[in-house]
Amino acid sequence: MKSNQKPRGVVLFCFALIVQSSMLFAQTYAKNGMVVSASKIASQTGVDILKKGGNAIDAAIATAFSLAVTHPTAGNIGGGGFMVFMNAQGKATTIDFREKAPLASSETMFLDEDGNIKDNSNHKGLLATGVPGTVAGLYLAHQKYGVLPWKDLVQPAIDLAENGFALNWNLYNAAEYFKKIEEQYPFMATYFSNHEGQLTQPGEIWKQAALANTLKQIRDKGRDGFYKGEVAQKIDAYMKANGGIITTEDLEKYDAIEREPMKGSYKGYDIYGMPPPSSGGVALIEMMNLMELVDWETIEFNSTEYVHVVAEAMRRAFADRAEFLGDPDFNLDMPLERLISKAHAKNRFENLNMEKASVSDSTRFGQIYDGKNTTHFSVLDKAGNAVSVTYTLENGYGVKMGSKALGFIFNNEMGDFNPVPGITTSGWQIGTQPNLVAPQKRMLSSMTPTIVAKDGKPYLIIGSPGGRTIINTVFQTTLNVLEFDMRIDKAIEAMKIHHQWSPDVIAYEKHLMSPDTRRALEAMGHKLRAIDGLGALMGITIDQETKIITGASDSSRPEGGAIGY
Ligand code: GLY
Repeated sequence: MKSNQKPRGVVLFCFALIVQSSMLFAQTYAKNGMVVSASKIASQTGVDILKKGGNAIDAAIATAFSLAVTHPTAGNIGGGGFMVFMNAQGKATTIDFREKAPLASSETMFLDEDGNIKDNSNHKGLLATGVPGTVAGLYLAHQKYGVLPWKDLVQPAIDLAENGFALNWNLYNAAEYFKKIEEQYPFMATYFSNHEGQLTQPGEIWKQAALANTLKQIRDKGRDGFYKGEVAQKIDAYMKANGGIITTEDLEKYDAIEREPMKGSYKGYDIYGMPPPSSGGVALIEMMNLMELVDWETIEFNSTEYVHVVAEAMRRAFADRAEFLGDPDFNLDMPLERLISKAHAKNRFENLNMEKASVSDSTRFGQIYDGKNTTHFSVLDKAGNAVSVTYTLENGYGVKMGSKALGFIFNNEMGDFNPVPGITTSGWQIGTQPNLVAPQKRMLSSMTPTIVAKDGKPYLIIGSPGGRTIINTVFQTTLNVLEFDMRIDKAIEAMKIHHQWSPDVIAYEKHLMSPDTRRALEAMGHKLRAIDGLGALMGITIDQETKIITGASDSSRPEGGAIGY
């Protein structure tokens, strides 16, 4: 099934109407700029910045700070992430603001005397917190590519925190959940309180005074407002009092880095992704290379053959990911060029059998599915500059701890390191060397902010949350747009699967795969698992002929929105 639903004449006819009433549609059209994020409020912040003459980088910075206020499950200043930027002329770069392991960390820091992980300590408690990178990353992006004053980009978030916004049901449900387990997470139990100390109700204005004060330091002092002075000292004191190891020295030493993007291609399109310490760019390009080897004239979308060949690509890319990838500053010999080469793809599919599932070697590289956390947003400005950002606290609400004086939540990103050196199990644990903990090292990530160029200009801006499933949902959405010619909202909503080498199982979105297809896949030797949903993609496409911008936010994030002007 090839869908050909690209907007042309009809779109031009309806254009003005649609822009005005954009939130009624799954897709939003615009001519001048667009922001798509998991929070309509934050998307609006970004669009306001575009309207004031800010470029896509400025809008992305303002959106990121606003998400830290309105979407605190993953929007953050206490975590880290990645930005892919392509200017209107098609030149791409990336900013790596992934968290780093503190100076006092070590390979075995999470283990008890028997070599087992102690009390889930790589995810729970402040030992699990990496040195945050978000503020440094946004500041670096601004220094290099922003045009509006820094303070104008932080102020909207301060206003949202200080004046508050109506609590949505999603946040209210989280508030109720944390209230029920308040002994476990005392900070979270009062995090959503109103000025009377009661749980803020849905629709009631929720204010965050302490966060507003921290943001004011960042507004006034830039990067130093977080990594030096008052805020840094408060972080250090909070860590010391609560079992953490991040110090003022860690904060002072933290630096975001501009890195060359990973570049691949698919049938004439150019794909720009994040290099390590993200595994996303490498794995996405490897899988798209594998897809180039498929004869799509003979395979329908969502058919048995489609699921088989896509899952087999995922199996191979995830095996390579686990074996080779980690922080490039610590792993100088990663075979990145080989992994993203067309020749490697040919090699990897040499043993592909279209009648039969391959078998993952279950003694190697087992991993669990990650949750639905992290958040992505996509931005395009009037000049045609494109920004793709994915950032995270790792789990939803990170480590679920924070200082009341600072008002933000810390990440538990140390959980993305391989916790037990040398021990890889068929369950979930990986012990391979490239991603073991070391002081100042960045943990391997699956975040996959991506920009695809057509004829050298931005064409698709895409990304998603979802732990290791991120790579696969971004991959399938990209394939849906480039190969199956789906409009961005259709590409985002279409059936997704996830295979990650081990466990050797295809997870598929419940109700979206036919029983016939499931039976046929099982007869080929695939194991299947139904899950509720995969990904929360936030995407934009640009038709360079008509200059029409189309945006869509995944229906799995009802508070999200594509807003254009
Ligand atoms: N914490 C999720 C990731 O970086 O992949």
